[in-house]
Amino acid sequence: MYHWSKPYQQMENMKVHSKKEETMTNELQIYIDGEYYPKSQAKISVYDHGFLYGDGIFEGIRSYNGVVFKLKEHIERMFRGAHAIMLNIPLTKEEMIQAVVETIRKNNMKDSYIRLIVSRGVGDLGLDPRKCAKPCVIIIADTINVKAGNASEKGVSALITWVRRNPVDATTSEIKSLNYLNSILGKIEANASGADEAICLEQNGYIAEGVGENVFIVKNGEILTPPTSTGALEGITADVVIKLCEKFDIKVTVTNLTAYMLFTADEAFFTGTAMEVVPICEVNKRMIGTGKPGPITKKLMVEYKNTVADPTNGVQI
Ligand SMILES: Cc1ncc(COP(=O)(O)O)c(C=O)c1O
Repeated sequence: MYHWSKPYQQMENMKVHSKKEETMTNELQIYIDGEYYPKSQAKISVYDHGFLYGDGIFEGIRSYNGVVFKLKEHIERMFRGAHAIMLNIPLTKEEMIQAVVETIRKNNMKDSYIRLIVSRGVGDLGLDPRKCAKPCVIIIADTINVKAGNASEKGVSALITWVRRNPVDATTSEIKSLNYLNSILGKIEANASGADEAICLEQNGYIAEGVGENVFIVKNGEILTPPTSTGALEGITADVVIKLCEKFDIKVTVTNLTAYMLFTADEAFFTGTAMEVVPICEVNKRMIGTGKPGPITKKLMVEYKNTVADPTNGVQI
């Protein structure tokens, strides 16, 4: 048994919570290859290469008040990832959009966190993907809470971990693949040191990203964020935030960031579908700026909330 320094209750807060599960009256309906199964019956083969080898891709998507935010963008990214790993998704993009919407509808949800997975499918115990006849498509519409306590108001602490991002010529995080051990190793270090989240460096020592978020800093009224050549995912939330900055005439520069630049930033924040926009107030025990969410971060948090609430930014359920 390993003992994390995080209090157990805080760890519990980070678990995926299922409203439907709490009532136990009406199980979540999970989509697997065109059929719906109650959560307790939703099972796939232990020979699926997604399970055996992490061979597959996924998306984490949110719906807000009956609208799936940036659904088309998530589907586009998923298809780009599938192309990169030579995986033939057995649905068209439009069919995939419809399947996501239908799954949320079936579960009577308006505000949800959707996990969309396409795994390589059932093969044998060798790793050759040619043995996998048919990729497996899974859609889960649930809820998620990854923010520790009052993270939005107080900000979160981060640990720059010893775990380097996989380089872009290895299992690059540019592909949102089922290989998340790199991120989990980082998260384990954050947990063990009592930090809320981990930040990974890339091979040359520049900041890459958080374990499930992109990283931004604010310096002298301007915003800086690392390029995807660090192995960072092309974040959909990051893209939304960059466009908001353009709208408000805040200069954004995509450039390599050092740990020093992060330590000495005026403000810093994470972006991600699950976390949304969250201030980073401490990194490796150094206070960032005033140690409180800064004015530009706060403005972007408000504008992000307005953006997700705008039904023109997604697909109606
Ligand atoms: C490794 C990693 N980086 C960044 C992000 C943020 O991406 P997005 O804003 O598209 O959710 C995620 C979450 O999907 C992630 O897993």
